[in-house]
Amino acid sequence: MSVEIKTRRRTSRDVRLMKGQAPIVMLTAYTAPMARLLDPHVDVLLVGDSLGMVVYGMETTLGVTLDMMINHGQAVMRGSARACVIVDLPFGSYQESPAQAFRACARVMAETGAAGVKLEGGAEMADTIRYLVERGVPVMGHVGLKPQSVNTLGGFRAQGRTEEEAAGVMRDARAVADAGAFSLVIEGTVEPVARAISAALPIPTIGIGASPACDGQVLVTEDILGLAGEISPKFVKRFAHLAGAVDEAVRTYAEEVRARTFPGPEQTYPQPVTGITKRTGS
Ligand code: KIV
Repeated sequence: MSVEIKTRRRTSRDVRLMKGQAPIVMLTAYTAPMARLLDPHVDVLLVGDSLGMVVYGMETTLGVTLDMMINHGQAVMRGSARACVIVDLPFGSYQESPAQAFRACARVMAETGAAGVKLEGGAEMADTIRYLVERGVPVMGHVGLKPQSVNTLGGFRAQGRTEEEAAGVMRDARAVADAGAFSLVIEGTVEPVARAISAALPIPTIGIGASPACDGQVLVTEDILGLAGEISPKFVKRFAHLAGAVDEAVRTYAEEVRARTFPGPEQTYPQPVTGITKRTGS
């Protein structure tokens, strides 16, 4: 049985109930026009802090601010009508204490109208997740490769390669689920570990560089469209090569501007004819 919701926006509860029913389709969105294009096809739109790298050209996600996330969250809400929209909490906005995290969430929820937030972290964030959920904030967890911890992880490398690491990711996943998260992103984690977590947890897992056995999948939209440059992680599959189409369109525009063939009569306003009575009939 698939979960068919046609007339209203999906909620975090709808996503939670998809476990064991239908694979969850999630993509990132940062702007209203992109959200509009993705909305008919996805269950969840994630306003990911990856926007720091994809949109703002940063080296990591660490420089992303809460104001940036709120602005982009508002844009994605305006551009979508049916997807469940989740907004990432950026680095530094929630790690200090549950109260700090709640203040950040209160702004995100009130100012964007999104369905919930995502935050990175495992057992160390369990108290915070519980605090948020008990106060009405739906939380999506994020374990495995946590880009906000790039400096302590020693780079963007797959997690769960040793027995100890694998047990750590499993422990984190269980802690996040026990704390009340409605779903869990597993990023950059060796396949059997992600598979085992997905089988063990009562909440849906959403994989990125994880396992086909996850309850859903997420990728960065610009990556799947071929808009994010030549170098991409192993787990990215390009479903289109739009950079080539953009290059071609812009090259033609530039040629036409330089040749003065653009704008043509169709793109200019003619002088209105005044003082002449237009004859009708014969
Ligand atoms: O920031 C992001 O886009 C993410 C996804 C890639 C899971 O966290």
